[in-house]
Amino acid sequence: MALPPGPRAPAVINTVRFARRPLEVLREWHARYGDVFTIKMLGFGTGVYLADPEAIRELFTGDQSDLRAGEANSFMEPVLGPHSVLVLDGKEHLRQRKLLLPPFQGSRVAGFREVIREVTEREMSTWEPGAHLVLRERMRALTFEVICRAVFGVTERERVERLRTTLGAVIDSSPIFMMARAARAELGPLSPGGRFGRRLRAANAALYEEIERRRLEPDLAGRSDVLSLLLCAQDEQGRGMTDAELRDELFTMLGAGHETTATGLAFAFELLLRNPTVLARLRKELAAADDDAYLDAVVKEALRLRPVIDAAERTLTAPRTVAGWELPAGVKVYPAILLVQMREDLYPHAEAFRPERFIDDGAESYSWLPFGGGIRRCIGAALAQAEMAEVLRVVVPALELRPLRPRPDPVVLRGITLAPRYGVRVAVDGRAQAHSAEHVESAVSAA
Ligand code: HEM
Repeated sequence: MALPPGPRAPAVINTVRFARRPLEVLREWHARYGDVFTIKMLGFGTGVYLADPEAIRELFTGDQSDLRAGEANSFMEPVLGPHSVLVLDGKEHLRQRKLLLPPFQGSRVAGFREVIREVTEREMSTWEPGAHLVLRERMRALTFEVICRAVFGVTERERVERLRTTLGAVIDSSPIFMMARAARAELGPLSPGGRFGRRLRAANAALYEEIERRRLEPDLAGRSDVLSLLLCAQDEQGRGMTDAELRDELFTMLGAGHETTATGLAFAFELLLRNPTVLARLRKELAAADDDAYLDAVVKEALRLRPVIDAAERTLTAPRTVAGWELPAGVKVYPAILLVQMREDLYPHAEAFRPERFIDDGAESYSWLPFGGGIRRCIGAALAQAEMAEVLRVVVPALELRPLRPRPDPVVLRGITLAPRYGVRVAVDGRAQAHSAEHVESAVSAA
């Protein structure tokens, strides 16, 4: 079967080019080969990128039982565990997903907003005027704490710090321990595999302790954190989640939800600080406090222009017609989040940061895809957007931040995410002026 056209370069060349300049290289391929193109990548095999929203809609609606995503994520299993919703497929995936979704619904997430603001205020109080910050690092600390409180329901300082140290040590370990079984071989306590095994056991012990402690809580049913809700959840057969399942899902939510949101926030700050008109309007809207329409639009536009994940991934288990092409089983299909979101026909002046575009029209489901779609759509989408909005609500009116680099950070690949190369370095220039309506009006017209 013929595959759609694409670059003929060997996989190694495509992979190196993509890892160094993912935005530019993807857009170059899109411009040259059109909305459906084939790429060979090291470690990923042959994949077909789809930049056509209609073809993506077809893929993400209706029967998706011939699409696998867990298989491609299975390299994460040594850390996330065999029950993780990310590594499962088929019936087991749907079972875990159904149990996990209710605690992340919009109405539940609204209850986490206050916690997010508190955590942000505490983090921000450590930023002295004159300090230089790497925003992605500061946001990582912040989003970790939000997961500890909102998802794990752990608030006591000492226990948060224990989770930060033990889980952080595993998450920050080299990805080689996930990828290569040989690297995990425990050849004595000082071997790299021995050290990794010890870190993983310490993280597991901390998580199992939290699960056990929570099971014994007398007010479990009255609590609103995700772990407590999951402890009360039951599937259609009336089965609750086992401790091993809970451990794997807690690790998964941390792994999937902390760095991604931190990177999304770092990009949002970078875009705001480099677009003074948008920053001034956001301050004005926040000062007026009528509604959150502009704030939410800023978050949506940041995730459009700088998506954290460039494409979703599905492996075909049977032949399927995709965008008019007969694709054989085994081929990977990549709904191309980034390329769809940069289409000029959907987003005129797509390179420009213009939150206004989301105020009147909202976002079309299949042209705004930062959280993927279908039966694998991100479970934490509402939480991530609430988190980004609340952090901006607290920081933007309070502080003057100044980018330290003359130009925006290039976007590079970090693991499977897109990230600003230098983490968005800024100086804290002091407390922001109180923004009276007239002050902001003149800033907007000056910009
Ligand atoms: C800005 C932040 C985030 C971004 C950009 C993001 C993006 C994504 C994307 C693109 C996927 C794959 C969807 C697909 O294949 O169609 C995904 C899956 C997932 N995300 Fe997120 N995510 C974010 C935050 C979070 C948070 C805060 C959590 C939870 C606390 C979370 C939990 C998950 C889980 C569990 C999955 C797997 C769903 C499944 O396979 O059924 N994510 N995310």
